Amino acid sequence: MANLFKIKPLETLLHEANSNTSGLKRQLTSFNLIMLGIGAIIGAGLFSLTGIVAAEYAGPGVTFSFMFAALGCAFAGLCYAEFASMIPIAGSAYTYAYTTMGEFVAWIIGWALVLEYALGAATVSISWSQYLNKFLNHYNLEIPPRILMSPFESVTMADGSVVSGIINLPAIFIIVLLSLVLIRGTKESATMNNFLVILKVSVVLVFIAIGWSYIDPVNHTPYIPENTGEFGKFGFSGILRGAGVVFFAFIGFDAVSTAAQEAKNPQKGMPIGILGSLIICTILYVLFSHVMTGVANYKEFAGSAAPVVIAVEKMHSFAWLNQTVKIAILAGYTSVMLVMLMGQSRVFYTMSNDGLLPKMFSTLHPKFSTPYKCNLFFAVFVSIFSGFVPIKVVGELVSMGTLFAFVLVCIGVLIMRKTRPDIKRPFRTPFVPLVPILGVITCGLLMAALPGLTWLNMLAWMAIGIVIYFSYGIKNSKLQKES
Ligand code: ALA
Repeated sequence: MANLFKIKPLETLLHEANSNTSGLKRQLTSFNLIMLGIGAIIGAGLFSLTGIVAAEYAGPGVTFSFMFAALGCAFAGLCYAEFASMIPIAGSAYTYAYTTMGEFVAWIIGWALVLEYALGAATVSISWSQYLNKFLNHYNLEIPPRILMSPFESVTMADGSVVSGIINLPAIFIIVLLSLVLIRGTKESATMNNFLVILKVSVVLVFIAIGWSYIDPVNHTPYIPENTGEFGKFGFSGILRGAGVVFFAFIGFDAVSTAAQEAKNPQKGMPIGILGSLIICTILYVLFSHVMTGVANYKEFAGSAAPVVIAVEKMHSFAWLNQTVKIAILAGYTSVMLVMLMGQSRVFYTMSNDGLLPKMFSTLHPKFSTPYKCNLFFAVFVSIFSGFVPIKVVGELVSMGTLFAFVLVCIGVLIMRKTRPDIKRPFRTPFVPLVPILGVITCGLLMAALPGLTWLNMLAWMAIGIVIYFSYGIKNSKLQKES
């Protein structure tokens, strides 16, 4: 009789992590890991949501929204750091749940991570294609709107005609291209990521440095605009609502933990990668949004698809910055997709190794040692969403899946401290049980704030996952067979 809540023994996991049988190569340094984290974090959240949140919810107080969201992520990040350094396995939250809450919960988490990683990549690819078009516009080139949008979207042209989308072709192109890079090799992908991260962070720093002298104190007065009387519209509640939205900007730091099996020294590298990238990005976010709302009035960002460009246009003597910022945005989005796609393949790789998914997901390329069939599968799967689904539908599901994983990782730390206090923890979450409990509360509240439709979509996704588990996973699970 199969046992749904069968726990994978920690000793087995530690053996898997320490033996070299996985085939994945340990080649990523702590520096690579921090870069992976920053690669996955800075993207659409910073470059698009900052303007939206400032205009609609928080004004210049969007800096506080970033600080609040960072605090919520820090609780989860500290819990991830404990697990990732203790069990350095590619499965991340899925693996942590397997050894604390049992196979069924692990499966659910692994399935939810598809929402974070695969749909995360899809969301960013949709936004990427819009920026590519803006970039090309500068050279009087334009991608025809029909191949720039999903069939559910339309745009009104200058002559008043309405054009509906057919497929978002650039979004599919970038997903397929990055999947091929990932197949080519982990080290090659990390090198490409390093380059993209250096580019985007440099431009963010240049924006902050140049923009600082253009800050007009009038734009920052009042720093927190008075609440309009409606919850979430400015004032303190606006900052809170803004925090829920900019949470998306922090998604990705946990992707570092999926590279645990490829880290040279995961015990040290995991906490450095996860927490280091989170701290660096928080500082950059706060400075960036402070400058952005200082050089332009927050009201000017209302309804803009490219708010950063509005701010850059105020820096008159630096016209070159305009196009440079677009390049940085394209680079930034590319690294987010790269790391998300990598994280996704590593989670499915681990689930397949455990027998819960077909063998093809863990077959490594004979030459490149990467799970190439898995990468190819997700190139197709993600492309379907990139090409045919509007951004809003996928974007909110990404936050939902991520928060769900965060909550369970925090709970996992609590369980593990009780059941296995003896295990060596290279990094210990401070103030247990307070930090994990605060993590559960903050992430739970952010989940509760997501729209009802997102909950329904999430439940539908979970229902599909449960059917697959009972028709395939439970019958092929190595753990179930062993018992
Ligand atoms: N944090 C990532 C972004 O903002 C998902 O694009």
